[in-house]
Amino acid sequence: MGTAISTPRMPGPPQLPLLSWQLRALRMLADPLAFFAAMHRRYGAISTSTPRHPTHVFVFGPEYQRELFGNPQTFIADAFRELRMPPRSAMARLTRGLLKLNGEPHRRHRTLMQPAFHSRAVARHHRAIVEVTVEELARFRPGEVRRIDRDLSRLMLRLGMRTLFDLSATEDVDRINGLIERLLASATRPMTLLFPLDLPGTSYRRTLRAAEHLDDALREIIRTKRENPGDDIISMLIAARDDHGQGLTEDELVGEGYTSFCHDSIASSLTWTLLMLDQHPRVRNDLQDELDAVLHGTAPEPDDLDRLPLLDRVIKESLRLFPPASMGLRYAAEDCHLGSYGIPEGTTLFFSPYVTHRLPEVFFEPLSFRPDRWETAKPDSYGYLPFGAGPHSCLGRSFALLEMKIVLSIILQRYRLSIVDGTRVNHKIKISLVPDDGLPVTVSRAGRDNHRAVLSGTVRGSVELA
Ligand code: HEM
Repeated sequence: MGTAISTPRMPGPPQLPLLSWQLRALRMLADPLAFFAAMHRRYGAISTSTPRHPTHVFVFGPEYQRELFGNPQTFIADAFRELRMPPRSAMARLTRGLLKLNGEPHRRHRTLMQPAFHSRAVARHHRAIVEVTVEELARFRPGEVRRIDRDLSRLMLRLGMRTLFDLSATEDVDRINGLIERLLASATRPMTLLFPLDLPGTSYRRTLRAAEHLDDALREIIRTKRENPGDDIISMLIAARDDHGQGLTEDELVGEGYTSFCHDSIASSLTWTLLMLDQHPRVRNDLQDELDAVLHGTAPEPDDLDRLPLLDRVIKESLRLFPPASMGLRYAAEDCHLGSYGIPEGTTLFFSPYVTHRLPEVFFEPLSFRPDRWETAKPDSYGYLPFGAGPHSCLGRSFALLEMKIVLSIILQRYRLSIVDGTRVNHKIKISLVPDDGLPVTVSRAGRDNHRAVLSGTVRGSVELA
């Protein structure tokens, strides 16, 4: 630390035994959410695994999170910081989007991008979302068992490609998806983080090469769109200009195009929503009644979505219990304080909407799935933050909510997707929070019933299943 900070010692475990911090780091990597919940239970709203000199700090609840997000110059966002990459590499360009920018560059990019993500602009994609959803659901056959998590990922991938890049031909979608999958498969391997060596056979080299291919593909799309703008987000980003008439450069467009490709979080959220509906027949049947009364078996028109209050509450409640972005990071840019505690420059600060959303002081009966709580609940934006908070809060929020509402209302009017009895549901962070072994469901025609599947796994401890 540059300047001495005299502050109380931050709560945390004793650091006596050899390797205690390393063992705790391994526990955290194995199941971050269980680790955070345990830290909160034992030490409260702020803690560290190294109390003598905090290097990793865990922050939960509205009070500290308000301070964390309210001081963006001090607590900076720097996604992918742990992945060391050559500054001129394709990987560096792909990841240099909003989630890595701070201060004026962040403000400039965000201002340029905002119009493309505004709810009015997003509403223009309504028809495309309905079309692609109906096409994908046409594969479903009553009586069959399907992995609905995979179906939703595929649907969201297609919707993402269509709305972001105006890609709909199967081969284009598959090609870009293949490139993204290859990149993620190697970039998320622990060896890539631990041994960032550009040598033959290393996962680090594979990551750099995969990034080059994806970078080339995105540049190709951007060049085509410059010549032939379409009704898609990237065309709007290409056309955006600031007060000085300047737009985003090609490198910046590549970074922001990649950053905005978040459709897997919607698939994750819809999967958890279907799981909660399976487990709560009364809510499910009420929702069915609401959809029938307003939509009469048709896909929703834009105006219909405001007349579906229960659908809105079900989604809010599902995002509360299973926020796809279940944890996040900030870094201390300078020696500073959080509450009365001293935070040295360079400290990594973890926050977790998943843990915060389960605090009884923020939500009554926090482990119950109760959409009706949203008739009155008005938690502040630091107590309920599935889309984050502060200057980095989700730019795609309106988009995500629109897609979730359209897709759910179409699925639920057509099919009852009953989870297969005995399914084991363990949560896992695979970028988004997902059921580790997926979610198998049996398809039948939509209708009312009171069945719910018997489930096993960590889900039994993370939410009350009636
Ligand atoms: C249910 C779906 C989604 C959830 C739960 C979600 C959640 C989040 C969260 C928590 C953040 C803030 C991260 C942080 O503070 O470190 C974020 C940022 C962001 N999200 Fe989303 N997101 C979703 C869907 C989308 C979609 C569909 C898009 C684009 C179409 C999108 C675009 C972005 C962008 C560009 C940022 C960066 C904003 C900035 O740094 O200024 N998100 N999202």
